[in-house]
Amino acid sequence: MSKPIITDHPLIQHKVTLIRDKNTPSKEFRELVSEIAMLMCYEATRDLPLKEIEIETPMTVTKSKVISGRKLAFVPILRAGLGMCDGMLALVPAAKVGHIGMYRDPETHTPHEYYCKLPADIEERDVILLDPMLATGGSAIDAVNALKKRSPRSIKFVCIIAAPEGIEALSAAHPDVQIYAASRDERLNENKYILPGLGDAGDRIFGTK
Ligand code: PRP
Ligand code: URA
Repeated sequence: MSKPIITDHPLIQHKVTLIRDKNTPSKEFRELVSEIAMLMCYEATRDLPLKEIEIETPMTVTKSKVISGRKLAFVPILRAGLGMCDGMLALVPAAKVGHIGMYRDPETHTPHEYYCKLPADIEERDVILLDPMLATGGSAIDAVNALKKRSPRSIKFVCIIAAPEGIEALSAAHPDVQIYAASRDERLNENKYILPGLGDAGDRIFGTK
């Protein structure tokens, strides 16, 4: 079981502080989530293999490196994961995008899948699953289960705020899935919301509360 990678770059920490603030309005919240996702994409793609090609600069012929043959797919968990997708695509525009729709039952806090549309060639792709919040881990676990039915090459999970309970549950259910989080928070409250957290990420991105 690999340990979660906490991407605590100063720029990420600064932006995470801004999205935690309850006075940050939806427009800024959305922009910041996208910027954090872009910075986290940099970390989550650090192990992409490279190959050398020959190119001509204005000065001379030289060899230089390009990403070699790996195809990526970004899969946001709806709704809140959508907020991370543009930031990721800004760095990897050739990636394909799948969607998994999940909502957490407000009473039982268990996830319900309502939508799943993945790229047709997903078995040739390395998947980066996106959701800003990892709380109990139920949504991420079920989303990985849905992905694994289609056998992608690999799966990573990128979130912004993770509860220790969610990290433990996802790592236990799917030890092969590397977790990236910008912050490991303190704990869940009695309603399974993350403390200190940032509230309901989907509502804050889309201004629905
Ligand atoms: C939130 C969040 C995750 C899930 C995390 O989604 O975006 O998907 O809860 O909780 P868990 O780890 O306990 O499963 P929510 O169900 O509120 O849906 P939304 O994105 O449509 O707001
Ligand atoms: N989903 C959220 O959006 N926030 C939490 O704190 C927990 C689940």
